[in-house]
Amino acid sequence: MLETPLTRHAGIETPLICGAMYPCSNPELVAAVSDAGGIGIIQPISLTYVHGHEYREGLRLIRRLTAKPVGMNALIEASSRRYHERMVQWVSIALEEGVRFFITSLGNPKWVAERVHAAGGYVYHDVTERKWGLKGRDAGVDGLIAVNRRAGGHAGPKSAEQLLEELGDLGLPLVCAGGIGDAADFVAALRMGYAGVQMGTRFIATTECRASAVYKQAIVDANEADIVLSERITGVPVAVINTPYIQRMGLKAGPLARWMLRGRRTKNWMRTIYALKSIWQLKRSSLDESGNKDYWQAGKSVAHIASVEPAGAIVRRFREAALAATAGSR
Ligand SMILES: Cc1cc2nc3c(=O)[nH]c(=O)nc-3n(C[C@H](O)[C@H](O)[C@H](O)COP(=O)(O)O)c2cc1C
Repeated sequence: MLETPLTRHAGIETPLICGAMYPCSNPELVAAVSDAGGIGIIQPISLTYVHGHEYREGLRLIRRLTAKPVGMNALIEASSRRYHERMVQWVSIALEEGVRFFITSLGNPKWVAERVHAAGGYVYHDVTERKWGLKGRDAGVDGLIAVNRRAGGHAGPKSAEQLLEELGDLGLPLVCAGGIGDAADFVAALRMGYAGVQMGTRFIATTECRASAVYKQAIVDANEADIVLSERITGVPVAVINTPYIQRMGLKAGPLARWMLRGRRTKNWMRTIYALKSIWQLKRSSLDESGNKDYWQAGKSVAHIASVEPAGAIVRRFREAALAATAGSR
């Protein structure tokens, strides 16, 4: 169960990805997951804007913390030319610094696949349903990350079982993202036929993650019913903990935002406004120890997260459980 196309493509021992997280991916967390045999994914805006590293220097810092492979997340948002140019530059620098595993989200990953393949690397693409899976396959990606409805961040509409079924014939390895909180969830996903898992929420509640102590504790304390989808942060539903602040704000986008999101021309402005606002708001609330204005992103995996612990201990425990399950089924 532990040797899969994902472990071969990423050059890792355990098919476990610490997914990119804006604003929670800091270099120490990325490095700790990779060092333990999984793979940590760099989120460039989190690395630079939230955690204050010049991009190339941040990559080199991670390299000093671990010699094992790390990955990079390229969010392909085509609405701003400046953003696209910046992303092209970030991908090139990552390649120069030795990164060979990339995860793309949104948009068309073709240009990333072409560049990364030319350097001998691999690209996996985040998808929430079949039409995006087909687009990823046609763009030449090497694997798909099936983001299900239990995921933290921008969750999809489908279950892990449905995604496995509707993406299964595309001829690409599938990684399960969403709802994995403990070792039993990890083993269950591998048993279902996934080539690996991508986890976010579980890795926020770790000693290496720089998120505030109150945010981590809220993840440990929350159960599944405490996770709600809010449109108020980015204009599309994002999974968050239903704190008193979220309850006061409501979950729907305001009337002006809704009207702008419907218009053909105003849609892009509104998206840009949301992107800038959410970048600032999420940075503030992930680091603020007072917990007053808390936009705490988390998925339904909170149900199985019982303590804050080192990221490496999680990776090793999950590996042991998969090894034990393999031995048991022989
Ligand atoms: C706080 C948070 C921030 C996230 N930010 C990003 C991001 O910037 N880019 C991305 O592709 N996915 C992002 N995700 C999704 C994760 O990479 C991963 O797919 C997801 O967390 C898996 O679900 P889980 O939280 O149930 O483990 C984020 C998730 C969380 C919880």
